[in-house]
Amino acid sequence: MDNERPSPSTESPRLVRRKTLLRTALAAGAAVPVALIGGPALARTLSSTGAAAPLTPACDDGDDPTPEQMEGPYFKPHSPQRTDLLEPGMPGTRLTVSGYVFGGACLPVSGALLDFWQADDNGDYDNTGFRLRGHQYTDSRGAFTLTTIVPGLYPGRTRHLHVKVQAPGRPVLTTQLYFPNEPRNNTDMLFDARLLMNVRNGNGGREAAFDFVLDVPQDPGPSPTGPPPSGSAWATGTAYRAGDRVTHAGRAYVCLQAHTAQPGWEPPTAPALWRAV
Ligand SMILES: [Fe+2]
Repeated sequence: MDNERPSPSTESPRLVRRKTLLRTALAAGAAVPVALIGGPALARTLSSTGAAAPLTPACDDGDDPTPEQMEGPYFKPHSPQRTDLLEPGMPGTRLTVSGYVFGGACLPVSGALLDFWQADDNGDYDNTGFRLRGHQYTDSRGAFTLTTIVPGLYPGRTRHLHVKVQAPGRPVLTTQLYFPNEPRNNTDMLFDARLLMNVRNGNGGREAAFDFVLDVPQDPGPSPTGPPPSGSAWATGTAYRAGDRVTHAGRAYVCLQAHTAQPGWEPPTAPALWRAV
């Protein structure tokens, strides 16, 4: 297990500077997974000391892709495709992890691979089978949900999930996700506050949220799924898809995530949903 210990790092936990698209979407009331609605302040936007980090006002700075972390010794290829890792009689606290995968232009990435693996409630990895291992793909909105248990602790590490994330045809991001308020976060040299999930209690267990940002190029132009309403005026009641373009008050905007427009969600006031182009 010590193999997973990192070499001494000069990178200490620091103030989280994450894209806040999802957080803004929540504030704007945009359509998001039920598991994310009504949650507390996103834990991943908190520093290791609990202080709120400054908000990033727009999801277009392109400077904060999800950090990489070491794979560790327990990854196994060819995990089964599944979103639910629970098995009958499996001990542990139930956990769901929901979120989105975004690309460099802050547009959602559909069909992105997420391959999760983790320790069981006892802190052990299944190195002979595929218990608590599984891969899945983001849906058309770039969203994913994993159903599993809270991983147990094992010597030398704080609580964590392992994951590989890959946009179609792009390099693999290998990283780990962390839980807030874990005592060992302060002593695990690998811990990175930028990889903290937002975790709350609920639904008979714990619900976590995290959105990945991959350092992959994206064309924020027309949606590949069909002709966008290019040039048409933004209008309430319209179902927009990521990549759709509209005009509003003489300016052009591109849709960042699918939603149905409502009063108060005008593009200039909903940066989670629209970006000026
Ligand atoms: Fe691990």
